[in-house]
Amino acid sequence: MRDEIRARVQFEARPFALEKPDGPANDVIVCRNVLIYLDREACDEAIRLFSARLKAGGYLLLGPSDVLAASVTPLTMVRLSHDVAYRK
Ligand SMILES: C[S@@+](CC[C@H](N)C(=O)[O-])C[C@H]1O[C@@H](n2cnc3c(N)ncnc32)[C@H](O)[C@@H]1O
Repeated sequence: MRDEIRARVQFEARPFALEKPDGPANDVIVCRNVLIYLDREACDEAIRLFSARLKAGGYLLLGPSDVLAASVTPLTMVRLSHDVAYRK
């Protein structure tokens, strides 16, 4: 990430299992290579949480193996130049 962009970004690492849907909303949530370890119910719950915690127009970035696990997402899949993301 370029320095002028990085200077405007607040990064936080948060354990999503402890998060609530009504917490602060985010522009981007990155959760890579984690959903693949969850059962379907926990995965759906995580996706609902991420969706609730994204601002309108915000992006959820998953790992390559997480994409299928998130097939029930209420978010919209968008293709980036080298990846796939989900947009609220
Ligand atoms: C393959 S690592 C991915 C780490 C990092 N996100 C990355 O892409 O380099 C899988 C991560 O999933 C986390 N994890 C596994 N089961 C989990 C669960 N039930 N709830 C929350 N995190 C879990 C593990 O703690 C581990 O950090």
